Amino acid sequence: MSRPAISPLAVPVPIGAGYDILIGPGLLACAGAELAARGLQRAVVVTDETVAGLWLAALRQGLNAAGVRHEAVVLPPGEATKSMAELGRLLDRLLQLKLQRDEAVVALGGGVIGDLAGFAAAVLRRGVPLVQVPTTLLAQVDSAVGGKTAVNSPYGKNLIGAFKQPELVLADTGTLASLPRRELLAGYAEVVKYGLIGDPDLFAWLERAGQSVLALQPDALARAIAESCRHKAKVVAADEQEHGERALLNLGHTFAHALEAELGYDGRLLHGEAVGFGLLLAFDLSVRLGLAPAADVDRVERHLASTGLRLRLADIELGDVRAERLLAHMGQDKKVRGGRLTFILARGIGRAFITQDAPAEAVLATLEARR
Ligand SMILES: NC(=O)c1ccc[n+]([C@@H]2O[C@H](COP(=O)([O-])OP(=O)(O)OC[C@H]3O[C@@H](n4cnc5c(N)ncnc54)[C@H](O)[C@@H]3O)[C@@H](O)[C@H]2O)c1
Ligand SMILES: [Zn+2]
Repeated sequence: MSRPAISPLAVPVPIGAGYDILIGPGLLACAGAELAARGLQRAVVVTDETVAGLWLAALRQGLNAAGVRHEAVVLPPGEATKSMAELGRLLDRLLQLKLQRDEAVVALGGGVIGDLAGFAAAVLRRGVPLVQVPTTLLAQVDSAVGGKTAVNSPYGKNLIGAFKQPELVLADTGTLASLPRRELLAGYAEVVKYGLIGDPDLFAWLERAGQSVLALQPDALARAIAESCRHKAKVVAADEQEHGERALLNLGHTFAHALEAELGYDGRLLHGEAVGFGLLLAFDLSVRLGLAPAADVDRVERHLASTGLRLRLADIELGDVRAERLLAHMGQDKKVRGGRLTFILARGIGRAFITQDAPAEAVLATLEARR
């Protein structure tokens, strides 16, 4: 059996029976051994065309190495694949392939494949084992962790889904070598998010080592992913179904969703890119409300800017949009002025909290100031 060159980091997730997130280069080669060790002798790999062309052969080799029988289902890439229509087709295909309850769905790809295949595994025969093999940085630090799965509806994103914890997450950092730079940066914004929510040491480390992470230096990359997974796993274990603390993971996301909604999800702004900008806006707002020191927003801006993330409305083609329009996307169409909004704010780097009390006027002024 082939072994990765560097031994993987393991982050335990104490939800349900508990499972591990394994992180490191070359892990696709161990996929078969890891599945077999969990009693999984057969799998159907679900992936997209782009990832299939790059990484499916390596995964197949890894499965073969331990005699794990498998087939592959290859879907079109892109958010449109997270639909009820594709879900229906995928479930039919899995049944046609006679996937049994002791055989696994293996999701090889970014968050789109992870969410869709994860949901399929949750509902097929009332639940079959799932193994997440995330291949984008965003999926390795966020979507493959925590057990949320979903497809989109014409009424909105992620409205149809289930909680489905995997048997195992295999985050092969080597797969990120083929990821476009923009996608890498988008995932990196979510890494920064974890530091800003609750870990000032992580943020300080990213200030020093962020460029190594983005240059895919193996140790720095694995550490950034492991720290992120540890944070998300901790929050999710305390609040799996998002009754309270899990909402902290949405730092920067109220702003980000407004920017994304205005741009219509057409590829001009990736989710993680919107999150990077949203993190800065959340800190701007926190400073404006007298909650956080101005020096902290300077650090956040300096670090995000050093990565090349865009941090002005004009830079994301929203220079002319009215701030009220963005506020309306935050679900406050009725009482825009004088209203109060639920937001994740911060008392400083690593000190995020939830408030129901952000004045709409301050939100508007925050957006205006980053035109
Ligand atoms: N379940 C959750 O908790 C959760 C959390 C965050 C986001 N999400 C979901 O995740 C999705 C976004 O995930 P994403 O950013 O990974 O997008 P994605 O899955 O669309 O992947 C982005 C693009 O990169 C390509 N790609 C993937 N891996 C590659 C690689 N190694 N090399 C080259 N290209 C590669 C894909 O084919 C795709 O075109 C959204 O649908 C979002 O709703 C879910
Ligand atoms: Zn996000």
